[in-house]
Amino acid sequence: MKVLMVCLGNICRSPLADGILRHKVNKLKLNIEVDSAGTANYHEGEAPDRRMIETARLRGIDISILKARQFKKNDFQIFDQIYVMDQNNYRNVIQLADTETEKDKVKLLLQAINNYQALEVPDPYYGNQDDFDEVYNMVDRATDAIIDAFLKNEKR
Ligand code: 4NP
Repeated sequence: MKVLMVCLGNICRSPLADGILRHKVNKLKLNIEVDSAGTANYHEGEAPDRRMIETARLRGIDISILKARQFKKNDFQIFDQIYVMDQNNYRNVIQLADTETEKDKVKLLLQAINNYQALEVPDPYYGNQDDFDEVYNMVDRATDAIIDAFLKNEKR
């Protein structure tokens, strides 16, 4: 299975989601490939935001080697599941889809968690450390849920 995490800049939320899921997948030796992208190209080629690198590092996850890239139409061909962080990302990605099959691959990340109240992972770019920690906790739970669903599917 191939999973793509998508946010706006690909320097805060989606590299974190990429790094956390990758870490868990490696630990459990699962056959899941993980990548991330941004709907915008403002930060193309840049490493993740320093505050997000630090937030992840404190929990034992290294995202410092990731490099931002823009989401492209071809990603619909490559990935099975495309997780977006908020409704804006959703609109921007869906606009590039040609078919219903492509559209069906796109989901809000927090929809991976059953009965979760919030739907959007908020953009922490203009926020403080609490905002970065909140994003971490949301993404941590959502990536657990993605793995649980993958394992359940495998057993069927
Ligand atoms: P991200 O956060 O979408 O989680 O990577 C942002 C990063 C940069 C900007 C916006 C959001 N920006 O406007 O530069």
